[in-house]
Amino acid sequence: MKLTRREMLKLSLLGSAALFLPVQRAAQTQISIRNRLPESALPKPFRTPFTVPPVAKPVYKSATTDYYRMTMRNSKVEILPGLQTEIWGYEATTPGPTIVADKGREVVVRHTNEIRNRNHRWTSVHLHGNASLPQYDGYASDITKPGEFKDYHYPNNQPARTLWYHDHGVHDTARNAYMGCAAFYISHDKLERSLPIPKGEYDVPLVLRDATFATNGSLIFDDQGESNLYGDVILANGKPWPRMKVERRKYRFRLLNAGVSRSFDLALSSDEPFTVIGTEGGLMPEPQEVGNMRFGMAERYEIVIDFAKYKVGDQIVLKNLQPKNNQEFSQTDVVMRFDVVAEASDKRNNQIPSELNPENHTMLLDESQAVRTRKLRFERGNGLWQINGQTWHDVIASDYKATVGNPGLNDVEIWELENNSGGWFHPVHIHLVDFKILDRNGQPPEPYELGAKDVAYVGENETVRVLAKFGPKKGKYMIHCHNLVHEDHDMMHQFEVGTGGPDPIEADPAQPLSEAEPLFTKPKPKPSPKARRRRQLRRRRLRRRRQRAVR
Ligand code: C2O
Ligand code: CU
Repeated sequence: MKLTRREMLKLSLLGSAALFLPVQRAAQTQISIRNRLPESALPKPFRTPFTVPPVAKPVYKSATTDYYRMTMRNSKVEILPGLQTEIWGYEATTPGPTIVADKGREVVVRHTNEIRNRNHRWTSVHLHGNASLPQYDGYASDITKPGEFKDYHYPNNQPARTLWYHDHGVHDTARNAYMGCAAFYISHDKLERSLPIPKGEYDVPLVLRDATFATNGSLIFDDQGESNLYGDVILANGKPWPRMKVERRKYRFRLLNAGVSRSFDLALSSDEPFTVIGTEGGLMPEPQEVGNMRFGMAERYEIVIDFAKYKVGDQIVLKNLQPKNNQEFSQTDVVMRFDVVAEASDKRNNQIPSELNPENHTMLLDESQAVRTRKLRFERGNGLWQINGQTWHDVIASDYKATVGNPGLNDVEIWELENNSGGWFHPVHIHLVDFKILDRNGQPPEPYELGAKDVAYVGENETVRVLAKFGPKKGKYMIHCHNLVHEDHDMMHQFEVGTGGPDPIEADPAQPLSEAEPLFTKPKPKPSPKARRRRQLRRRRLRRRRQRAVR
């Protein structure tokens, strides 16, 4: 059962009334956190071995579709050595299990909410980077409460890319994601498979985030009066400042920033450049060499680091040059370390071709195709995080009718994303589409942004112009800041593509577990020739008996 619109409205009104108080505090200096594990007690960097998240196994594969079952649960895990930490996660892990998909094969995931905690209210699962139908897009107000489930359908017909699924429940996204509801979803296609870029164990998902722990090991969720949430521990694939053993060859890293509020500026301690080969929309037209890279929340960059440049025994630190307007702590200037331990054991797929995906449709879009320009201001007003003076509360109050725009299906438009504050940055995510960054304050985008994107880092006093084709689905989709505290309070709005798209809340709502239909039906196996013969004989006998009875 889902909340009725009226219940949702009531909740949201309560939520926003509460907003006006803490906002006063937001401007003040940091509220001291009681019971916080002192920085002196944190593990020293580069002691914990690096791991990659587990890969999810489908429960059933039909001719066209892979079916998965995921249960969101709380569990206690060891993140900091010697301490037990309660997390909420898909399959009770964080980062959750990676779903690996193939272009052209559908994926259906039954997500069940079994998170039992007095601070937990609901979830909504968004597959970030996927052009899902509105009812499967993790629409914030399309919630699943504990004891309910929802089946999400993903067609996988976009170019290969690094996606992630994470919580998007209205007003509670930051807490749910911070507690652990985030995981990779990686899709492959023919083109990507055909390129000689690093693959298999040399193709490494790498999700970064920060966190704050209490002395008893529990995670501290403190959003500083609904403004930001910064932790003093950097986690890479869920491990504090890990060290990874590497061979002397190229590695591909699929970087994801799953932090609530923290952005990074990544660089190598060797001062050597690395090569960016992919962005949110998959492989870039051409690789780009960069020395450092600003990396906002929810952005994905695929980078190649060539460890053949180093000797066995060398250690290279992935550093954080600390973009402004984050809160830093004593060890937030480093992320992890690579220890070169051996020669390359496998030299296949050890290249970066000079052309990757030159035919990427988004990157081939031209400004001249745009039929209109829309302006979106990301700002602080009336003590709220707003878009054009409005919030998600206004969307709810309009009975989900209000939009920031209604592009026609497949219209090409320019969206001008403006942040006129010098005090904070907003990584802006537009659902449904991939876009091309045209410029930032009139200057060309950064080299690493020369690929199809779905998040634009809109920094302090920046205006970023993006170009997108609005499709391939009709309906209502969200646009918001991916600082999850800003998103929850309430810098989120929606646009509607075309008219008559499926309703994101009503089309396929969550159901109580007790009413669950089977997730899939296996086709009945064909009977063996022997069994078929036996059945024929039996039928014949029956027929004869019946005929005799009639006579
Ligand atoms: Cu990654 Cu609307 O979210
Ligand atoms: Cu923001």
